[in-house]
Amino acid sequence: MGGREIIDDVVEHFYQLVQNNEELRSLFPSDLSEGKEKQKLFIEQWLGGESRYSDLYGHPRLRRRHFPFMITERLAGLWLRHMIESFRYCGIEEPELAEVIAIFGPMAKHMVNVDDDVPREPLENTWLD
Ligand code: HEM
Repeated sequence: MGGREIIDDVVEHFYQLVQNNEELRSLFPSDLSEGKEKQKLFIEQWLGGESRYSDLYGHPRLRRRHFPFMITERLAGLWLRHMIESFRYCGIEEPELAEVIAIFGPMAKHMVNVDDDVPREPLENTWLD
């Protein structure tokens, strides 16, 4: 997919888009820097790169980690569109783009939790024993 530099650029661009979208921005904390760095590590790991995210933060448990944020279908759709747009912006084209959509699409949908009765407090880092 082009390696770490591309992923870093994708995430930088994604956060730029988040910053410019009021609906999405309101979900994120005022300081975006930590989340942005975690996102870079995670996506690199997820797409087959080094496991730096899990080494630092433990098992991703992504759905659980998103419980503090009330994620609607609409927000998940916005998130996904901006993420795909960021990959495209960074030069990722078919067929890799289709792969990205195939992975991120169902995952973004899976993050919808607004109607679920789930704990809303943040999850601490979770290393597996
Ligand atoms: C493919 C789907 C998704 C993936 C792979 C993903 C990945 C991540 C990762 C790795 C983090 C950092 C977690 C941590 O260690 O603290 C994160 C945080 C976050 N995600 Fe997602 N996410 C996805 C979908 C969504 C959706 C649909 C939304 C909302 C529309 C969302 C909103 C957030 C917010 C608000 C944070 C917190 C950022 C921060 O603490 O600065 N995510 N996400």
